[in-house]
Amino acid sequence: MVLIAPSLLAADFGHLSAEAAAVAAAGADWLHLDIMDGHYVPNLTFGPAVVKSLRGDSRLVFDVHLMVEKPEQMIPWFVDAGADIITVHAETCRHLDRTLQQIRDLGKKAGVSLNPSTSESVLEYVLDRLDLVLVMTVNPGFGGQKFIPEQLAKIRRLKKMIASRPILLEADGGINRETAPLCRAAGADVLVAGSAVFGNGNYVANIAALR
Ligand code: DX5
Ligand code: ZN
Repeated sequence: MVLIAPSLLAADFGHLSAEAAAVAAAGADWLHLDIMDGHYVPNLTFGPAVVKSLRGDSRLVFDVHLMVEKPEQMIPWFVDAGADIITVHAETCRHLDRTLQQIRDLGKKAGVSLNPSTSESVLEYVLDRLDLVLVMTVNPGFGGQKFIPEQLAKIRRLKKMIASRPILLEADGGINRETAPLCRAAGADVLVAGSAVFGNGNYVANIAALR
């Protein structure tokens, strides 16, 4: 079964809690929370106080995607805020192995995200510390970008690398009803979608179409 993780980045920021409740009612499996610091990526979103406030109203799995410099400083904030999964970018970690241990030591599931230009080979020696691999199918920073098809080969290679390990493979960026089946066929277990869920149409139909 494929998991659908709507990204709140494309929701109405004036009504985040209602938007989270609406996608939960529409059949979302997870809630994807894009944390951008204006340094690692040229965009700013929201921080742990907002996540904590959403946590009080939602029972969805909180899938926190950190697009920030020095993520190790912020990990404890998002643990306190109620994250279930914390994903860091491999490109932002000086000591990736240590950062993954930090997340697990705090009792959360640990994910690594790879930019389009980053090879899956950076994960070869940390596979046993991972719960999730997030393949960026656009460059991080903005919603509504075009899917980069070369990333399908990376998803396929990761699927082989992961083999029987209990690691979920997530695709993020430009996922819509045309690209979702390609990601799924390549081996993705979780599909993140911002525009395709919160854009035109209703959330129930949009999530059903992706699934
Ligand atoms: C981009 C974010 C994505 C983004 C996806 O940096 O990581 O989660 O919200 O948005 P769409 O689905 O519109 O490409
Ligand atoms: Zn994301």
